[in-house]
Amino acid sequence: NGEVNLNELLQQMTLDEKIAQLIQLAVPFYEGAGEGQITGPMESLGIAEETVHNSGSVLGMAGAQDVINVQTAHLKNNRHGIPLLMMADIVHGFKTIFPVPLAIGCSWDMELAEKSAAVAAKEAAVSGVHVTFAPMVDLVRDPRWGRVVEATGEDPYLNAEFAKAFVRGFQGKDLAGDMDKVAACVKHFAAYGAAEAGRDYNTVDLSDRQMREFYLPAYKAALDEGCEMVMTSFNTVDGIPATGNAKLMRKLLREEWGFDGILISDWGAVKELINHGIAADESEAALKALKAGVDIEMMTACYVKNLAELVERSEVDEALIDEAVLRILMLKQKLGLFENPFRAANPELEREVVFCEEHKEAARALAVKSCVLLKNEGVLPLRSDAKLALIGPFATNGDVLGPWSWTGSKDDAITLEAGMKAKLTADAKLSVAEGCGILEAGTEAQWEQVLAAAQEADIIVLALGEHSDMNGEAASRADIRLPQAQLELVRKVKALNKPIAVVLFNGRPLDLHGVIDEADAILEAWYPGSQAGHAVADLLFGDANPSGRLTMSFPHSVGQVPVYYNAYNTGRPQGAPDAQVRYVSQFIDIPNEPLLPFGFGLSYSDFAYGEAELSADLMTEAAPITVSVTVTNKGNVAGVETVQLYVRDISGEVVRPVKELKDYRQICLQPGERAEVSFVLSEQQLRYYHSDLTHASDSGAFVAFVGPNSKTNTALPFRLVKG
Ligand code: IFM
Repeated sequence: NGEVNLNELLQQMTLDEKIAQLIQLAVPFYEGAGEGQITGPMESLGIAEETVHNSGSVLGMAGAQDVINVQTAHLKNNRHGIPLLMMADIVHGFKTIFPVPLAIGCSWDMELAEKSAAVAAKEAAVSGVHVTFAPMVDLVRDPRWGRVVEATGEDPYLNAEFAKAFVRGFQGKDLAGDMDKVAACVKHFAAYGAAEAGRDYNTVDLSDRQMREFYLPAYKAALDEGCEMVMTSFNTVDGIPATGNAKLMRKLLREEWGFDGILISDWGAVKELINHGIAADESEAALKALKAGVDIEMMTACYVKNLAELVERSEVDEALIDEAVLRILMLKQKLGLFENPFRAANPELEREVVFCEEHKEAARALAVKSCVLLKNEGVLPLRSDAKLALIGPFATNGDVLGPWSWTGSKDDAITLEAGMKAKLTADAKLSVAEGCGILEAGTEAQWEQVLAAAQEADIIVLALGEHSDMNGEAASRADIRLPQAQLELVRKVKALNKPIAVVLFNGRPLDLHGVIDEADAILEAWYPGSQAGHAVADLLFGDANPSGRLTMSFPHSVGQVPVYYNAYNTGRPQGAPDAQVRYVSQFIDIPNEPLLPFGFGLSYSDFAYGEAELSADLMTEAAPITVSVTVTNKGNVAGVETVQLYVRDISGEVVRPVKELKDYRQICLQPGERAEVSFVLSEQQLRYYHSDLTHASDSGAFVAFVGPNSKTNTALPFRLVKG
């Protein structure tokens, strides 16, 4: 049946051949392919040709014919006929680009999220990819960090649900047999999202309790769902870089969680142990990373240059190398590569499957659900026979795919102009002007064009945002406002005294100064992907009703960062009955609360909440309670509401967040329709990490909250009594 006896194979391999399996090289190292995807510093690495011939995996390769060429050439050069694993970052779509993960988070829609990963997997698989470096499940609180765009938000429960959905979508139920699937690699282990000051690659230092409570659940959820691989993070964890951190990898990941799949470093992270200051040279870096449990070293050569000598000097047990090699061979076997090294790569089918109409429809559906209506003072939806001016640097720009869309094409993306034009009736008018660049100030000539476009318009749609390169890896920003050139454009357009609807294309919660007060409506579109213009136009013209809800708080200003809903109360909270005017935990110049909270989003419907009720005010381990509320659509269009259940533990052993999301329900209500939403709340949902790291609940007082977002203050007290 094509099965190879991997232990026998391992025994036939020389030590050098085994060590070479542990290096991952980018595409330019292989003959027969183009440049591929480069996502880190490129060095020649100074490795022998023989090492490339025996290497185990390739980074950033896609395209069925290229994969077939490279694999064919490789198999001629590898005396054991060990195929290469093709890995790449297929993060939110392959050629059909879905919204960026932060936007997908705002959909709160696990089915569509899973579907997006399934489509990405299908396109990637037929193009020759075997493993995707996704999902990225880092919990994020600091919008200065460029990589918040790759995460689903600030909530551990929701992040874990998305982690599972993405893994299901990528890997399916039968990774071995289903050729439309790719193996998933959850990243970045661990707590990469907590980098100090939001500066990429920066130090992370968290207590074990913080780690377990907030940061670890999503990685664990991905692994429980069967995720095949894990990628280390660049940061330190409790003083030790993750890539050399035996406590994190060997003890927690492997021993405690039982993970037996492949652990890969991030790009160059093994050698970076030297810069971090825990290794004097490449040999020590190799020693520490291998001992910590890293199987594959991505794009540096510390292993191939040093492990043999370390074995010779008895500093490394060869059994550790064998273990790592075996894991890699096992994944190759599981994917059927010994039998068919090309797996699903098929140039003919690739042309049919990739970017097909069905996939574009799926991308549009998710984009519609991912946009969040932040403000609307009677301007939206637009009438399809309206006289409109579309102004701003994102009016005609295809830069709407967001980071990690290297296989997608901006030229294929539907611009906002194209999307809006497709909606207009014959008597409507749409005039378009750029006004300024994304970063470059508008010229006199551009302003003349704005004036001409705005002259006859009843409403101005302003398309603004961040260049996609201002987000993602190595794109931290200290100032998270819109670029100055665009703020100036807003100021001048405002002076024209016409209603303004702003559409934002960006990858992080922004400081909305200079926009929020000036605009009559704001639609946060994020980077919606290939179908951006169509999806946004669906919402602007009311063919779809906005239903996205923020999964990351929008701060008042950068000085408030990090600001997140599930924070602790402090001993001197604002608004407490005994609070003094001055000596409370507060800013003297801005509120404590974020500008827009977690869970927030508007709709064209008007949802009214009835009084929430508990089935009992006493819960035991055997008897959960039910929290119910009626929601009525008082508006005149059908809409989707996300009803959210939060809990606060007010007599914990350690302090507990002021609110924690425990459950939610998305309901679709017709105009005038009412529904009762009930949540069963059980003792298990009240468990948390104690000071000794046990995970348990405590008898005592709690409060449940149910409402449309995390600001809800319909407090329902109850008690847990444990036997
Ligand atoms: O997967 C990525 C990772 O997220 C950041 N560094 C490079 C890797 C491979 O491209």
